[in-house]
Amino acid sequence: MAEAKKVIVTGGAGFIGSHLVDRLLAEGHQVVVMDNLSTGKLRNLNPSATFHHSDITHQLVNDVFHREQPDIVFHMAAQVSVTESTKDPINDAAINVTGTLRLLEASRRFGLEKFIYSSTGGALYGDPEVNPCAETTPIRPMSPYGLSKHLGEQYVELYHRLYHLNYSILRYGNVYGPRQDPHGEAGVIAIFTQAMLEGRQPQIFGGGEQQRDFVFVADVVQANIRAMQHGDGEAINIGTGETTSVNCIYEALQSIIQYRWDAERRPQRPGEIYRISLECSKAARILGWSPQISLEEGLQQTVESFRKGVRATA
Ligand SMILES: NC(=O)c1ccc[n+]([C@@H]2O[C@H](COP(=O)([O-])OP(=O)(O)OC[C@H]3O[C@@H](n4cnc5c(N)ncnc54)[C@H](O)[C@@H]3O)[C@@H](O)[C@H]2O)c1
Repeated sequence: MAEAKKVIVTGGAGFIGSHLVDRLLAEGHQVVVMDNLSTGKLRNLNPSATFHHSDITHQLVNDVFHREQPDIVFHMAAQVSVTESTKDPINDAAINVTGTLRLLEASRRFGLEKFIYSSTGGALYGDPEVNPCAETTPIRPMSPYGLSKHLGEQYVELYHRLYHLNYSILRYGNVYGPRQDPHGEAGVIAIFTQAMLEGRQPQIFGGGEQQRDFVFVADVVQANIRAMQHGDGEAINIGTGETTSVNCIYEALQSIIQYRWDAERRPQRPGEIYRISLECSKAARILGWSPQISLEEGLQQTVESFRKGVRATA
């Protein structure tokens, strides 16, 4: 096990962040969460973490760093909705670009060991000509969200060049698993699962043959843990290299949940990427990471945890 560290997880009350917090605590690290609870939930938050109800765009970020003196920052807080980013690109940039910059400024002042930045593979490369696409694929975001996450990456790299701030950038595929918000616009597995368990009819947009690289949240957490000691100065895809269509996901969940009804078919949403998967040999080589949870197993675990939630509120 790695030496115990003091870490800050921004967005630690969110979907991926809260799983990372649980794992870090289980490994004996001291964990501080910064979250404004805009999409995150207090019920996700591990009570053993120190919680600062704070906004990453606010100058009080410096006070938190001053008080906590972290060794490592996992930066997961973000405006994560592609639709919202199109409706309000200024707010998207304020959180994803300026918020990231504020954390970088605080990090360089306090002599951080490492800054680990959660980025996106799915929204960065556009509709790539070759799949699975490697990290060298041209960056061609199709939304303000994709661009703001990439600008965050570029600031991280700049702070390395200017101030030698050590970093890793992790570019995730479509992450899924327990605690994902089933009421958002993204996260098709959470949305379908919740609807099927409640006996509602899920909607499929644009034929359902769109294909994505679905990666289970525990695998994404493991990539972050590996990045504490490996992958310095690198941007690394974190996915499976496989593509699965939305229709396939629907059928797999139907069979696990024993849901008989067809989906409601809706027109394609503008700007939706048709097919993407991430080539992840760099993660294997540099982080010693590869996904361990098959889609089938991940879907089973997700349904199981959503079932408990539905029972609890019934
Ligand atoms: N879920 C995915 O499929 C996916 C894919 C690629 C990249 N990512 C990245 O992973 C990270 C985590 O995403 P998630 O899916 O867990 O989303 P999430 O919405 O569950 O988590 C984001 C967290 O950030 C917090 N937050 C938002 N704005 C904030 C602000 N201004 N100040 C403080 N906290 C703020 C929210 O309250 C929430 O707890 C994000 O950086 C996202 O861009 C996610």
